[in-house]
Amino acid sequence: MRGLQRFPFDGKKAMTHQSVLARMVKLRILGKSPVGAYLCLNGWTWNHLSPFLTNLRPIRSYGSFLNTLVRLRADRRFNFGTFFLRNRHQLELIRRLSDQRGKGSTLKISVLACSNGAEVYSILWTIRTARPDLKVIMHAVDVSKEVLELARKGVYSLKTPELVHAPIFKRLSGEEMREMFDTEGNQVKIKSWIKEGIIWHLGDAGDPEILNVLGHQDMVVANNLLCHMNPPDAERCLHNIARLVNPGGYLFVSGIDLDIRAKVASDLGWRPIQDLMEDIHNGDPSVRGDWPWQYWGLEPFNKRRRDWKLRYASAFQLGVHWGEEISFPQVGSLTSEKEFTPKKSQEEKEIVSTAMPR
Ligand SMILES: C[S@@+](CC[C@H](N)C(=O)[O-])C[C@H]1O[C@@H](n2cnc3c(N)ncnc32)[C@H](O)[C@@H]1O
Repeated sequence: MRGLQRFPFDGKKAMTHQSVLARMVKLRILGKSPVGAYLCLNGWTWNHLSPFLTNLRPIRSYGSFLNTLVRLRADRRFNFGTFFLRNRHQLELIRRLSDQRGKGSTLKISVLACSNGAEVYSILWTIRTARPDLKVIMHAVDVSKEVLELARKGVYSLKTPELVHAPIFKRLSGEEMREMFDTEGNQVKIKSWIKEGIIWHLGDAGDPEILNVLGHQDMVVANNLLCHMNPPDAERCLHNIARLVNPGGYLFVSGIDLDIRAKVASDLGWRPIQDLMEDIHNGDPSVRGDWPWQYWGLEPFNKRRRDWKLRYASAFQLGVHWGEEISFPQVGSLTSEKEFTPKKSQEEKEIVSTAMPR
């Protein structure tokens, strides 16, 4: 409720508007979709406009309208698409937040929808490079057995990445490749100091039991998962994911319909993290570049919107009372180890007692 006062989210009006459009999208004339034809024509025209023109305010607004139609028509399907160092700005924020921890302390992180592990290893590489003293307990979850097996092995073909139809190394420099991997012929193997301490789970982020399995976390990362679900399922799943976050902990959630994320954030009173917000929003070229023609496409960052500080945040602090905008997370805002009492599995106990070597 607190969030609602701060960022008025006109859910009812938006829903009515959407239901009219949803009916339009389903319309068929002689078996053909007039909206489909309309989008085709617009797509052709859009692709012939210069970036200068598509960035103009009225054209951007028109793009938002087209993207709404695209999302309403979408046949949402999962894929394993991912990259190493996919969004450097988001990783930098994770590094800054981790840096607030005391020397030698423990940090619990869960990565949901981890695909082939690229995101998990990118996060661990970032934190362990900056703070080798931290004991990171990383839970990585995916619903697909085959991709999880690939992630667990941490061995990747340099030629054709297995299962993932994306150039997964494209965003890495040569030096970063050498820091992260050992090369063996046409394959690379993630280095052991990055790989250590990960608990892999075959599981569903929407399963209410997930809290009992993982326990509360200091950080939860759930990127590029929810946009592939139907909006009501995505909203339910996001509520479930949020239960995992310790009071004062952080949730990173990108790759989701912005209306849904803003609604849940507003309903649950999450504190949007302003630090690096615009950079993170623009930090993954594959989703920004696909707007407005794909349902996962991310709209341009628009500071003219009254709700921009909530709408474009993809990192939030949960379970805190917050009065005014804070441009950078306060020091010590992550929960201290004393404050949370996770049910530690034997696996975790062993990990906690092992310092992370580089
Ligand atoms: C597009 S990849 C995202 C990978 C990574 N998070 C990223 O942002 O690069 C989506 C992943 O979500 C997984 N997935 C789909 N539904 C899931 C669910 N309900 N729970 C956990 N993982 C799921 C898929 O198996 C796939 O590996």
